[in-house]
Amino acid sequence: MIKAHNVLITLTFAIAMVAVSPIHAQTPNADQGKKLYNAKCGGCHDTKVHTRPNRIVHTYNELVDRVRFCDNAAQANLNENEIFDVTEYLNNAFYKFSKVSAND
Ligand code: HEC
Repeated sequence: MIKAHNVLITLTFAIAMVAVSPIHAQTPNADQGKKLYNAKCGGCHDTKVHTRPNRIVHTYNELVDRVRFCDNAAQANLNENEIFDVTEYLNNAFYKFSKVSAND
């Protein structure tokens, strides 16, 4: 009984930790993101799409969402850390969004 109780407490604690942790576990690596982008994101567009006047991404969160969307489209199979590496690269090089945004 005591064991089951401890497991429950541990589980509850683990779930609480996940809820308060940032989405990504490690600091994003923009250099790695650039390598991934160059290796996996060609074919449909080059980096000009990130500086065009009518670009479709307007916040950091939209950029993360778009990287996920294009990861699927490209079938690049980036893992969670790699999604943020690529986002970091694109944000540092082109978008320069603040990561804290009030409205989304
Ligand atoms: C299968 C084709 C395809 C591949 C491969 C692809 N993309 Fe895209 N991407 C698109 C399309 C289509 C758009 C939208 C273009 C438009 O609306 O004019 C886009 C737009 C984007 C934008 C938004 C540009 C803007 O307007 O600000 C980002 C960011 C982006 N892609 C990231 C990536 C990343 C990262 C990868 C590699 C994981 C990738 N793309 C690979 C098709 C692709």
